[in-house]
Amino acid sequence: VNITVSSEGGNATSPHQYGFLHEDINYSGDGGLYAELINNRAFQGSAVYPVTLAHWYPINGAALSLQNLSEPLSTALPISMNVAAGKANSSVDSCNQSKTIIGFYNDGYFGMDVKIKKYTGSFWVKGGYDGVFEASLQSNITGEVFGSTTVKSMSTSLEWIEHQFELTPEKDAPNSNNTFAITFDAGGIEDNSLDFNLISLFPPTYKGRKNGIRVDLAEVLEEFHPTLFRFPGGNMLEGLTKNTWWDWKNTIGPLKDRPEFDGVWGYPQTNGLGLMEYLYLAEDMGMEPIVAVYGGMALDGSVTPQDELQYFIDDALNEIEFIRGPATSKWGSVRASLGHSEPFKLQYVEVGNEDWLAGGAEGWATYMKYRFPMFLEAISTAYPDIEVISSGSVFDNYTIPEPGAGDYHIYGTPDSMVEQYDLFDNVTIPHIIGEAAAVHPNGGTDWDGGLMEYPWWGGAIGEAVSLIGYERNANKIIGACYAPIIRSLDSWAWASTMVQFAADPALTTKSTSWYIWELFAGHLMTHTLTSTADFIPLYYVTGKNEDTGAYIFKGAVYNSTNEADIPVSLSFDGVEAGTEAELTILTGPENPYGYNDPFTGVNVVKTTKEKVVASEDGVFEFSLPNMSFSVLNTGSS
Ligand code: AHR
Repeated sequence: VNITVSSEGGNATSPHQYGFLHEDINYSGDGGLYAELINNRAFQGSAVYPVTLAHWYPINGAALSLQNLSEPLSTALPISMNVAAGKANSSVDSCNQSKTIIGFYNDGYFGMDVKIKKYTGSFWVKGGYDGVFEASLQSNITGEVFGSTTVKSMSTSLEWIEHQFELTPEKDAPNSNNTFAITFDAGGIEDNSLDFNLISLFPPTYKGRKNGIRVDLAEVLEEFHPTLFRFPGGNMLEGLTKNTWWDWKNTIGPLKDRPEFDGVWGYPQTNGLGLMEYLYLAEDMGMEPIVAVYGGMALDGSVTPQDELQYFIDDALNEIEFIRGPATSKWGSVRASLGHSEPFKLQYVEVGNEDWLAGGAEGWATYMKYRFPMFLEAISTAYPDIEVISSGSVFDNYTIPEPGAGDYHIYGTPDSMVEQYDLFDNVTIPHIIGEAAAVHPNGGTDWDGGLMEYPWWGGAIGEAVSLIGYERNANKIIGACYAPIIRSLDSWAWASTMVQFAADPALTTKSTSWYIWELFAGHLMTHTLTSTADFIPLYYVTGKNEDTGAYIFKGAVYNSTNEADIPVSLSFDGVEAGTEAELTILTGPENPYGYNDPFTGVNVVKTTKEKVVASEDGVFEFSLPNMSFSVLNTGSS
């Protein structure tokens, strides 16, 4: 293939081309990115997820019961756990004093990682107690204690008191089957029992943020150089019913004031990973946020009538003011009071999520007729610089009103991902690719057959071709988000995710797709350059990064019928003889269904790097294997 790249033509590309969608699915929020180790920390429940003592177990025969006290910790957290001596046994300590040590333990989100590092904990107690609490981390198998600390009681029957502590284990636990316990001497209690609520334990977090993000998961995401971050959904934004949409106001401020959220993916959520936490993550990782605001339709298909929609429009405007309003504004001052006086960056606001889906044709009709136009008008008037994004695309039979943008989602087979390469060639309206991933095998049963359990090499190459297509059109494509981004290996609703994890960080796994997206995101162009040559089976995009001066080629070979590698002669107008470039080639296993296995640690992705020098005619000569993705860059990445 002879590719001659012109120094003219092409188009400017978006500076934030690659990122991800995060919503709480697959325990990717609570139990995942959100570093909280205690599962069911505040006995939060609803009609959908009844209040339960799940994950809490008594120590020494203590009687644990749920209480709805007349003086609860807060209106957001009305239920607490009462702990009484029950059938506890007494013992005599080294000073010959009789003690009745009782308590409870929690087994975490499918275990807890315990290492020699500083854990930070807290719990609220009500009830008179003269003595100390002991907080400890131990094996759920052998009972071995890895570390403990004592916390002097300040507890009284008059009010709820928060107790805080730090705990550094003396040794690493050999596995993640561990628990966190609190014990105390029942002999020191005034009135037979104590009430506990909001029992929390955090390991060190990403960038050291309080109430923050799990370090290894943040790092594995950061390493793929994401610059775009869409949240809080996905379906999570819409909520199960019109009364249970993701209300951002319930996700800010002290944890004791954050009520339960009826998670849409099969488990209740704490709202601990809230709007501020998402914004800090975007800021800390250098990602451009795309904040989705509730668009007046829930997953059960219920739609807000036009004459009631203003409430949600006002709410969205308040949310935007909270995020980027000055600290002197009503909602900006709330943000400032929470520790961020400077406005956060916000250029993109999406209205709803997949409104063409949950409500069927009728729900979609209401979106096109009044819901999106009303939000668009209100947000664009108040914030003319914000790009307001519709939750559907021009491919959903929607003539998106100006100045709106669209959102296109693709969960496909490798073949259908390949068809993306020219999909946007004739589109004029800007779009995000809000969710994208190869999830079904070619020739399979599509959605009826379920999803592939892990991203696989053939799928990842299909994704590479789709990303080439989006990058070729990067003047209209604001950016592409992989979705959903991570999943717990212990419980999930959606199998194919870029990263898999468990409580044990050793199982955190970069999938085949991670390697593809990382290579794209690590070599950003500032504009594309036009080139000559047909596409199939080598799909490619060429361009330049004006900031580094580098010329860049990205190419994927998909289903070549030739056994031999494809010889490529590539010349850029302006690149002289002797210019050096680095060529990175990703190849996979012979079996296109090969995947990176978290349990065996097998990584099927092979990365080779070679130096290529432009010939006397200024031509780079190299060859590319079938089912590969490559980047040639004349500068540093
Ligand atoms: O990413 C998983 C789900 O797929 C999202 O919640 C939804 O937007 C899409 O249908």
